[in-house]
Amino acid sequence: MSGVGQQSAQKTFYLETFGCQMNVHDSEKVVGTLVQEGYRRVESVEQADLILYNTCSIRDKAEQKVFHRLADYKKLEAQGKKFGVLGCVAQQEGEKIFERAPHVSLVCGSASYTKLPEMLVQLERAPLAAGNSEDRASGFDLPASGSRTADAGSLVRITGLDDRQTEKCFETEFTARTNPHRGYITIIEGCDKFCAYCVVPFTRGKERSRTSESVLAEARQMADLGYTEIQLLGQNVNSYRDLSGKKSFAELLAAVGEIAGVRRVRFTTSHPRDFGRDIVEAIDAVPTLCDHVHLPVQSGSTRVLDAMQRLYTRDQYLERIGWMQGAKREISITTDVIVGFPGETEQDFRETLSLLDEVGYDGVFSFKYSARPNTPALTLEDAIPEEEKSRRLEELMARQREIQIARYKKYIGTQYEVMVEGYNEARSQWIGRTSQNKTLNFTVESGADPRVGAYVPVLVTRSFPNSLVGEMSSLGQ
Ligand code: 5AD
Ligand code: SF4
Repeated sequence: MSGVGQQSAQKTFYLETFGCQMNVHDSEKVVGTLVQEGYRRVESVEQADLILYNTCSIRDKAEQKVFHRLADYKKLEAQGKKFGVLGCVAQQEGEKIFERAPHVSLVCGSASYTKLPEMLVQLERAPLAAGNSEDRASGFDLPASGSRTADAGSLVRITGLDDRQTEKCFETEFTARTNPHRGYITIIEGCDKFCAYCVVPFTRGKERSRTSESVLAEARQMADLGYTEIQLLGQNVNSYRDLSGKKSFAELLAAVGEIAGVRRVRFTTSHPRDFGRDIVEAIDAVPTLCDHVHLPVQSGSTRVLDAMQRLYTRDQYLERIGWMQGAKREISITTDVIVGFPGETEQDFRETLSLLDEVGYDGVFSFKYSARPNTPALTLEDAIPEEEKSRRLEELMARQREIQIARYKKYIGTQYEVMVEGYNEARSQWIGRTSQNKTLNFTVESGADPRVGAYVPVLVTRSFPNSLVGEMSSLGQ
């Protein structure tokens, strides 16, 4: 254990997370690391000595949110609090963050989290008031890959900004998982796909997978601790390549699903190009693998997919959908769509709408294209005006709503096993989730008291565009 814990057991931190599941899980690992270093997590900025933001830069709005939050909290600087920016905005903006938010002392991208303990020591030693900059820059002698301190006048500025050279995954035995029943395991970090619109290859470095042994050891450990649902994570989870050469992604999925005690395995996010038929075969063969696949399509037009550098055509995408639709269990399919990519014509957009009809998704996350720093799409012409993007987004969401109304209706009268997630006081309903990842809220007969984390059978009685409602069945408990 390094110095911080020994010096002050009472050091407190507050951590707020923006963005995707990868970030949520990174935060669980960061929390574990800080606790191991002698810090205690608190629930408000007022109580904290160190205030951390784990940030998202996928779209401009997400990034702006971070800077607004930092501006809001600037006044707390006078109380001697220190601020750190982690995650994708940290990696993307680097030392520019110190210019926009001078009260920040630590900037650390996800590829440098393994060095957090060293950085915390450095941060601890750093005076808040002006001091000798030579002293501040010394003692932080990290490897060549980008981590260093920079003199910043009155504040110490520590940056951990490993770039695409990073080989390591952020593995720690101290992950502080927030849910005792279902938990994430990152199996692959980074991205080598370079879709024309996307910042992730720049913010999360190159693709690097863990060994299947290490993933399986973590999954077994979780099962021993009572976790019944495991979600394998990666920016492109199915681009997984076992360094020890032992398991394909589909084999790893199956192996996790066969661990005693594991009842549900999910994985996200899959890239269509690397989506093999063997994944569907694994879902067919191993009942614990959930019958849900999130397969972002981004556009239904091959012309736009080409401009986006997505590495597949509409037909190739639909071929993969066909594999899933031929599975033994009905696989629920969800997707991501971007509207208004530069050069997207009305005809291209119509092709996206027709794809929604053809596939019949159970959920679509749709976004207006947002120009991002460093990305190849910045140089494309024919930007789509903001109002036109909004119109397309609205039309797409309305179409998808109709599709979901029709699809969700079909489930009325069917019984599903749900994992109990909680209780909604306002609606007097229990909250459940099906293997297909649908929310199925339910009531119970008087006297029955389902436990959070339990699996119970529920008969669907009503449907909404985004969720189902039912009654817990007394049969089969
Ligand atoms: N603009 C809009 N949406 C984006 N996404 C990724 N980059 C952008 C961007 N520049 C969307 C994609 C991706 C999801 C996580 O975010 O649909 O699948
Ligand atoms: Fe946001 Fe992507 Fe970074 Fe996740 S990986 S935090 S979605 S930019």
